[in-house]
This record gives sequence, structure tokens and C-alpha cells, in this order.
Amino acid sequence: MPMIRECVVTTVGPNGQPHLAPLGLIEEGAFWVIAPFRPSTTLTNLEAAPFATASFIDDVRIIAGCVCGKGDWPLESVPDWSAPRLSAALSHAELEVARNEADPRRPRFFCRVRKIVCHKPFLGFNRAQAAVVEAAILATRLGMLPREKIDTELAYLRIAVDKTAGAAEREAWELVTAKIEAYLQTQPK
Ligand SMILES: Cc1cc2nc3c(=O)[nH]c(=O)nc-3n(C[C@H](O)[C@H](O)[C@H](O)COP(=O)(O)O)c2cc1C
Repeated sequence: MPMIRECVVTTVGPNGQPHLAPLGLIEEGAFWVIAPFRPSTTLTNLEAAPFATASFIDDVRIIAGCVCGKGDWPLESVPDWSAPRLSAALSHAELEVARNEADPRRPRFFCRVRKIVCHKPFLGFNRAQAAVVEAAILATRLGMLPREKIDTELAYLRIAVDKTAGAAEREAWELVTAKIEAYLQTQPK
């Protein structure tokens, strides 16, 4: 399996409006591949405007927010590049689509990395941040997963949050788990 880097990708819509989505960038040789499931705004935008900016972050409230419907996070323009980055980015990568592979379910956009720029220090791994990222992925796949798997995974992930979270991680965890719990309430036990 290839290496995947979880980040927040900015694409640009038809009226120049930026769109943020948490996505995994798949390493394929010299390329980073963006693989959005259909339907998605990221996909529509990349088909029309073949470039993106990946923001690498440690504030997982942004990932939690994006999967819970809050997508208007502060942005900074990138010199000589049309897709802005997150203000919170520790670093960003400017990605140009070199080619794409059509697919009825999940097309793949092979991107060349034009530039990587650092903005803030990376201060080490944190297990609660990783747990929030996992829970956010769960939150985007609820309809595809059996209830038992959701319950088991959340119980395991909660251990890392209880042991290692700071205030931002706790806030992000509460947001994502509230969404998951609201969904579970609507499902038969
Ligand atoms: C950490 C993380 C990684 C994700 N990676 C992908 C991905 O590689 N492809 C995808 O289609 N959705 C992925 N998702 C789900 C998308 O963020 C979500 O479906 C989003 O709404 C994309 O659709 P949009 O472009 O219409 O906003 C990921 C979610 C999270 C939290």
C-alpha cells in the first residue's frame, strides 16, 4: 500500500471561491495523487481548474469542522499561486495536476509538487490528534459502516484523547463525536 498524507486541500471553484476538504494525498513515485469520491466539490473544481494547495496542520479542529459543515477557516494567499492555504498551516504544498485517471467511483488526479513551504514548527506527534483524524474519517463513512464497528473504534480512539488531548483536541473530539452520536440516534440498536 502507498504512503498517504492526511491534510486539508484547497481547490478553486468557477467564481474563484476557495473550497476546503480534508483529503489523503497518496504518494505514487514523484506524484501526489488526490482521489476524491464522486460526487464532490473537490472533484468538480479539479476538473475545471487543475491545481490545488495542500495545507499540513496540527489544529485538528479544522478537520473536525470541515466534516461537520464548517468550511470557512482563515486563509492566506500564496504568492504566484491561485489556491490559498490555511492560515494555520505548518507547511503547504502547491500541487499541479499533471494527468488524471477517469473512474466512475473515484477518479485520480496525479499532481506534481511545485513547491513546499514551511510556516511554523512541527512540535511532535500527538495521539489525540491522530484519534480525531480517525474519528473524522469515520464520520464521513457512517452509512457504510456497521454500528458495532463504529462503537468499537470510538471506544478505542477515546483512550488516546483521554490520555493525551489538549483543549483544541478535546474540542475537535467533542464536535466529531457529537456528529457521530447524532447519526447513531437515528439508527436501530
Ligand atoms: C482525514 C480525512 C481524509 C479524507 N480523505 C478523503 C479522500 O482521500 N477522498 C475522498 O473522497 N474523501 C476523503 N475524505 C472525506 C472528505 O473530506 C469529504 O467527503 C469531503 O466532503 C469531500 O467532499 P467535497 O469536496 O465535496 O467537500 C477524507 C476525510 C478526512 C477527515
